[in-house]
Amino acid sequence: MKTHKFSPESLMMSHGYKPELSQGAVKCPIFQTSTFEYKTAEEGKAFFEIAYGLREKDPKEELGLIYSRINNPNLEILENRLCLWDKSDDCAVFESGMSAISTVLLEFLKPGDLLVHGNPLYGGTDHFIEHFLTKIGIHVLSVHPDESSEDIISMIKTSGKGDKLAMIFLETPANPTNEIVDIESYKNICKHFSTDDKEVLLAVDNTYMGPLWQHPLQFGADLVLYSATKYIGGHSDLIAGAVLGPAELMIRVKTLRTFLGNMLSPNTAWLLLRSLETLKVRMSQQTENAQQVAAFLNKHSAVEKVNYLGLLKEGTKEHTIYKKQCEAPGAMISFDIKGGEKEAFQFMNSLKLFKIAVSLGSTESLVQHPITMTHAGVDPTHRERMNITDKLIRLSIGVENADDIIWDIEQALENIQSRVLGTNHKFQMVSD
Ligand SMILES: Cc1ncc(COP(=O)(O)O)c(C=O)c1O
Repeated sequence: MKTHKFSPESLMMSHGYKPELSQGAVKCPIFQTSTFEYKTAEEGKAFFEIAYGLREKDPKEELGLIYSRINNPNLEILENRLCLWDKSDDCAVFESGMSAISTVLLEFLKPGDLLVHGNPLYGGTDHFIEHFLTKIGIHVLSVHPDESSEDIISMIKTSGKGDKLAMIFLETPANPTNEIVDIESYKNICKHFSTDDKEVLLAVDNTYMGPLWQHPLQFGADLVLYSATKYIGGHSDLIAGAVLGPAELMIRVKTLRTFLGNMLSPNTAWLLLRSLETLKVRMSQQTENAQQVAAFLNKHSAVEKVNYLGLLKEGTKEHTIYKKQCEAPGAMISFDIKGGEKEAFQFMNSLKLFKIAVSLGSTESLVQHPITMTHAGVDPTHRERMNITDKLIRLSIGVENADDIIWDIEQALENIQSRVLGTNHKFQMVSD
């Protein structure tokens, strides 16, 4: 018989789950238990020997479950399924995106090391790096998408800490402006500073693209990170995170997770298993809607500029990177409204279908104002350089009917215009 390889979306309902171990239940139950019974004391001893690295695992040996801070069926099945999207060796799931990010940074950096990070970054990541890592003696160098590889190499050398470079951490596309950088070129910078004794690692936060639209490991990233709260969860009802990468790095991530105790709970893992079954349909619909919304905003005279991957101009550096790395433009849009904070807030307050809330990637459309919300704690000079200004509004597009989403945006734009100008004049649509 001809062999056939199923796509990840076809395996989200079954991969890694054995019904015969759960009374034939078609759906994986929630293994709400803190600990697992060993058949014998010898078996318990054998499991601990492997867990603590006291001996190599025999290839034929089945690893048993020990304790839910170390392993649990819901977590393992979820991790195995997430590996399929990114074609990764292994995955570790966490109780939040921030715990995934902070665990990776703490595991691979030590006092005296240099961390280079891209801009912009999610405000929480930026805060952890700039305010916590610097406090424990980690040197931080911040770089921007408009700097070339040569510029960055020379900045690292000028810092005098090139031999201490341990990691580059990137977000691409970046929150909230959709800035995009070439992952491969950053891996080449890592290689430039790697030696026989030390490999400089590249970690990429892929939250904005979800596991569907970009696969950083295929472009040289060593680790890919997600806030699983976003597209992977997708229903604004849980907080979770994930890290994926090669086995030799993931064993270190999982070991630190065991001792920090910031693994995901079985209940949240179960919710994520349910979410993964619809990941592709949700993200595809969201992307289709976002393309229509971006095209609408791009023609509206009350809008100064739209940041959306689907609107990148052919022939630009960004478009070339987008074509190389991304499979679709995703569902995150930000735009500059004409005016400033006043107009932005009036627009947001006038929306009827959108909810004013941070977070992204869920079934419902959300709107937020990055400079006063998610990025309020970011250094103002960084914000200014990254065009995170009073007039920037971020939209996360959901699965609602696209006409309804566009109607809502249109009536809110009209509302600010009539308040500002005191007229009923409708904003003009700019023709092609
Ligand atoms: C790009 C990005 N990375 C990481 C995080 C942090 O994730 P969590 O809120 O799940 O801790 C967020 C949260 O908004 C984010 O937008």
